[in-house]
Amino acid sequence: MPEKIVTNHDLTRLVETSDEWIRTRTGICRRHVVTGENLTSLCVEASKKALKASGISPLDLDMIIVATLTPDEPLPNASSAVQKELGAVNAFCFDLSAACSGFVYAMGCAAMYIKGGAARYVLVIGGEVLSKITNWADRSTCILFGDGAGAAVFGVSDEPGFLGMSMGTDGQRGYTLKMFEREMDNPFMTEEQRRAANMEEGPEGTLIPKSRYVSMDGSEVFKFAVKKVPESIHQVLEAQHMTVEDVDHFVLHQANYRIIESVAKRLKAPMDKFIITIDEYGNTSAASVPLALDELMASGKVKKGETIMISGFGGGLTWGSILMRMV
Ligand code: UT7
Repeated sequence: MPEKIVTNHDLTRLVETSDEWIRTRTGICRRHVVTGENLTSLCVEASKKALKASGISPLDLDMIIVATLTPDEPLPNASSAVQKELGAVNAFCFDLSAACSGFVYAMGCAAMYIKGGAARYVLVIGGEVLSKITNWADRSTCILFGDGAGAAVFGVSDEPGFLGMSMGTDGQRGYTLKMFEREMDNPFMTEEQRRAANMEEGPEGTLIPKSRYVSMDGSEVFKFAVKKVPESIHQVLEAQHMTVEDVDHFVLHQANYRIIESVAKRLKAPMDKFIITIDEYGNTSAASVPLALDELMASGKVKKGETIMISGFGGGLTWGSILMRMV
């Protein structure tokens, strides 16, 4: 995590909000925000800890995936920058963009490469510097997000640790969460084409430049999450002939405490099976699942043979769940 901690109270100096509103509507108390760090440095730090915990040398890695929507630069990609810092010269590297589902999708990729025999050890990282795409004057979004990174090493094992997965995407509702990056511009475009590519409708029919900050329809995302996450969890369990009672721990993307509570209610699962980190970190998009997983592992609650259901959901709109067994 970045060193700098920003409390709800700190945000009341930027926008019209209150600690009480943020806590009751989201469960967030504080978040970390980069000041001296960047995406690569956060990912490298998390990766070193994951490698140490797994006893794997950087040279043993066959593949590195960084799930992020906020790389330091589009070129070189974040995973190549991480490879350079780790000296993981035997790994091939790519970034994966699936917003808050990114880490879960990257885990699915790692599992399939390992099952297919194309890789033995894969480093999967979820990292975000959302503070650089946050509009700090927009109270509907700036209170939600935080920066951070988490990493895990996945590898071949004699016993199956990966039990199953279910992924889905609804591109029709993609613009529920959006951000524009660079202008479309080349010497061959007409003014009209430039306008069509770079402007959007603003208030009262005006044309305004597309926003370079993340914006969203919060309540639509909320409704989508509480419907799709339980569905995908049930799909994974049904394929394994298992039920919700067979899951020992739930690690969900940390977007809002109330979303996690609603999912638990729909699944009829007790809240004490759900790991909560949103209070400390806010919504860190692709980093939230590995950060929560780390918290769960550090708690010492997970015993050999127990099952962990991991779910991500967010921009795209994307969602996905993976069921693991502790081996
Ligand atoms: O990671 C995936 C991406 N994002 C998400 O998963 C987010 C999912 N959505 C949410 O977590 C919630 O929808 C929010 C926390 C974003 C918003 O909570 P809500 O209960 O849906 O509130 P709302 O947007 O319906 O706003 C309620 C009121 C509005 O005022 P009026 O119109 O009722 O007078 C907002 O203007 O709260 C106002 N409001 C605020 N007030 C104080 C919105 N933001 C703030 C704020 N402080 N920061």
